[in-house]
Amino acid sequence: METVLSGIRSTGNLHLGNYFGAVKNFVKMQHEYNCYFFIADFHSLTTHPTPENLHNNVKQVMAEYLAAGLDPEISTLYIQSDVPEIPQLYLLLNMNAYVGELERTTTFKEKIRKQPDNVNAGLLTYPVLMAADILIHNSNKVPVGKDQEQNLEMARKFARRFNTVYNVEYFNMPEPFNFGKELVKVPGLDGTGKMGKSEGNGIFLIDEPSVIRKKVMRAVTDAGPTQDNQKMEEPIKNLFSLLKLMSTPDTVEHFLNKYNNCSIRYGDLKKQLAEDIILFTTPIREKVKEISKDETYLAKAVHTGAEKARASASKTLRDVREIIGFKAF
Ligand code: ADP
Ligand code: TRP
Repeated sequence: METVLSGIRSTGNLHLGNYFGAVKNFVKMQHEYNCYFFIADFHSLTTHPTPENLHNNVKQVMAEYLAAGLDPEISTLYIQSDVPEIPQLYLLLNMNAYVGELERTTTFKEKIRKQPDNVNAGLLTYPVLMAADILIHNSNKVPVGKDQEQNLEMARKFARRFNTVYNVEYFNMPEPFNFGKELVKVPGLDGTGKMGKSEGNGIFLIDEPSVIRKKVMRAVTDAGPTQDNQKMEEPIKNLFSLLKLMSTPDTVEHFLNKYNNCSIRYGDLKKQLAEDIILFTTPIREKVKEISKDETYLAKAVHTGAEKARASASKTLRDVREIIGFKAF
């Protein structure tokens, strides 16, 4: 069975874009692949969180992914910093990662722009740590968004280099996981583009109903169609895309008919959309609250994940050390 691995940022809450663009697929993939999902808390240190924030963020992310349907019994769900084999592999990979190529990565250049006062070495070697994350389980497939494709390419480069330097065929070449037809883009409701944390237009799974209603009612619209079957342009197209994701086919058809005969009132559509989002998010939001309070359940999930992840990671590290030439006395 192929091994699929995905790293999860340890900051920020899940929004509908993350859910329909990634998490929903992860939940399904659990039954089809050997899955590793981990919270990338080492990576988050590049932005210097406080100790309280570091812990609370990890806990929150864990609770949200569990509530959304990741099953710690089926997949290996763990916290990166619980697996000391990862930083060891990172150290070893660093010896064959070159400063020049690291300086040229787009994510690094972007970070320099975003945080010019904190250009730390962790940022420079971020792709090496990410390669260690992937290679420690000799993963075959990695689902990544567009912004992480170059980092995945670097992971392949480091894997290939290791194989070449030591004349072995040890590491697999980790390929991007392609969701194909299942890939959905969740739009934002502020006119154009996608829903995203940095776009500031997220509707979060843990948003209270009143917050969701407010966000949806604020959605950008236009003056309304003036001709029957008028071609739909972006702000309205986005509303309908979200409606298709969240509502029943009957509801979609109802509003589509009204749009096509120019009798649509966007306010009615928004009200319905908000209620359907609330219907969908409420059980997840309640589950997040329940899990966050259940320290025993959380601890059990975390420990199970760490144990499974270390079993796989320690095997890889043992092999790698042997290939490099470390020998026991
Ligand atoms: P954000 O910073 O907005 O939370 P990330 O870039 O961290 O988003 O994305 C995490 C995952 O969620 C990625 O796999 C990405 O493809 C997916 N994702 C994020 N926003 C959307 C969206 N609007 N539509 C579809 N998928 C999305
Ligand atoms: N860098 C990824 C992000 O910002 C998170 C991540 C860390 C990751 N290590 C990974 C993703 C390994 C995939 C594989 O979203």
